[in-house]
Amino acid sequence: MQIVLLGTAAGGGFPQWNCWCPTCAAARSQPHRAIPRSQSSAAVSSDGKRWFLLNASPDVRSQLLCLPANGATGVRHAPVEGVVITDAELDHTLGIVLLREARALELYLTSSVQSILERDSRLLPVTRSFAEITVHPLLLGQRTLLRYRDGGASGIWVEPLAVPAGPPRFASGAGTGHTVGLMIGDERTGGLCAFVPGSGGLDPSLLGRMEQADLVLFDGTFWSENELIDLGISDRSARQMDHLPVSGPEGSLPQLTRLSRPQKVYTHINNTNPILLEDSPERLSVERAGVSVGLDGMSFTL
Ligand code: MLT
Ligand code: MN
Ligand code: ZN
Repeated sequence: MQIVLLGTAAGGGFPQWNCWCPTCAAARSQPHRAIPRSQSSAAVSSDGKRWFLLNASPDVRSQLLCLPANGATGVRHAPVEGVVITDAELDHTLGIVLLREARALELYLTSSVQSILERDSRLLPVTRSFAEITVHPLLLGQRTLLRYRDGGASGIWVEPLAVPAGPPRFASGAGTGHTVGLMIGDERTGGLCAFVPGSGGLDPSLLGRMEQADLVLFDGTFWSENELIDLGISDRSARQMDHLPVSGPEGSLPQLTRLSRPQKVYTHINNTNPILLEDSPERLSVERAGVSVGLDGMSFTL
């Protein structure tokens, strides 16, 4: 299977429209030092033609234009077979409503994510007034095969893993499975990817599953615990926002470094994170530890 990183920035993108932090300022005036990135999303395909989105970002329109054209057979042709959703956060779901021109949308999500999208953000009721939505329920710890719109099997399965995190701040309730990572497997090649764009921690069970993978795409939102507090733009720490920071003795970098099997790549990187600067000491230390900093368009074959 092929996995493409369509968007590697966290919510707001990079640079963020209203942000003049040092990294956003560099992305505007010195793009060779800081390459702009769109909001968190990826795509997976087993034939390089028919794609499933992994989250639907507010940048979905331009992101879909980056996928290889897949042979439209009629005037209207949605170049995406289905959308797998890891959580109900706006950066991962606003794209659902932007895909409303499709006559039909196939969504793969847990029941907790579905209820937040039904009741709280109301993105599903709004989208349903334009397009027919079919929900394929994802159950924690259980594999679901992704199917093409014609019912054919893609050969790709997904299994949601609970990750340590709270629900979106606008959620009125929080059932288990409101935020998940995904194990994504190819039945044919045996290729295995752990896709974890948002996680407030790394527990032994999550680390154990990630060690089995060929590729780990992990939450790179913040470099440090007090990144936004130090910049004076928030009073919440990284962990209070349900993102394990990259640095520090308990951070994701030393823990990911200990995984010997998979290739490791950060995604969902906040615009304030200094690893976005190509020449920063933080970038150097991530790369020296054997982890890559995700960039839109990066592609992996597993
Ligand atoms: C997150 O990743 O924590 C959320 O997407 C936050 C947000 O977009 O407001
Ligand atoms: Mn986010
Ligand atoms: Zn910024």
